[in-house]
Amino acid sequence: MKCIRCKKKAVITLKRHNAAFCAECFLHYYRNQVLKNIQKNKMFKKDDRVLVVVSGGKDSMALWDVLAKEGYNVVAMYINLGIGEYSNRSQKVVENFAKKNNLPLIVKNIKEEFGLDIYKLSKTLKRSPCSVCGTIKRYLFNKVAYDNGFSVIATGHNLDDEAATLLGNILNWGESYLARQGPVLPQTHPETYKKVKPLYTLTEKENMYYVLLNKIEFLHEECPYSVGARSILYKELLNELEEKSPGTKQRFLIGFLENGKKHFKEVENIELKECKTCGHVTTTEECSFCRLTKVSNTVS
Ligand code: FES
Ligand code: ZN
Repeated sequence: MKCIRCKKKAVITLKRHNAAFCAECFLHYYRNQVLKNIQKNKMFKKDDRVLVVVSGGKDSMALWDVLAKEGYNVVAMYINLGIGEYSNRSQKVVENFAKKNNLPLIVKNIKEEFGLDIYKLSKTLKRSPCSVCGTIKRYLFNKVAYDNGFSVIATGHNLDDEAATLLGNILNWGESYLARQGPVLPQTHPETYKKVKPLYTLTEKENMYYVLLNKIEFLHEECPYSVGARSILYKELLNELEEKSPGTKQRFLIGFLENGKKHFKEVENIELKECKTCGHVTTTEECSFCRLTKVSNTVS
């Protein structure tokens, strides 16, 4: 098969676009997609300070690399979640990349800095580790952005992630989640930040090609707590559909964003307060992060 752009020998086929690319033209396509997503959705400009959340996985490493190469003002943030060797290995990957490319990186460690243990907390609270983890991450994203004067937070969510989230929200009819789902989550308060997903039209596979072609080191393993997560089941189901009907994921997600989303409404009039312990914005007397910290102090 020939590359649709330069007619040289193709090395990558993208069935959903009915296209094939040589390595060079694939990278051109990839960069264009990212830049188009940023501009079309008004995610950020060249002079915005962007906090890129990285985990060491292929998606966030690809995002970090492409934004830095395109000249955006990015600083990466890595959170060591204390998930044994998995966390140590991912931290190494991220630190190596920052060092090799001379890029700024902020590292947070939830065990060392806040005494938080996701596993213990999830057992005590009878919540899934991923839900505890999500609370901690969301808090730290905003806190680090606030403390360091960033204007926007970027994450490596890809088309597969977004389509799986959409399927989950539809299966559960999570109306306010559906109203909020999209590549841009607007700022709702001076202490919360706009969150953007510049890779939302690119698949896991495309991010994988990007890191492989650029010889970017990344962690191949998934978080051990994600085993059995419902989002993985949704991804498997969507992969099956995609296999039989290429383009399904894209039609599902983009179709929803363009035609479906407008029919859902967010819950309005949620009163925002200051957390009585840390002062950060919250909807309750004390924010969920401070409540977790308290529980953690009582169990350790
Ligand atoms: Fe948060 Fe796995 S990354 S539980
Ligand atoms: Zn608090």
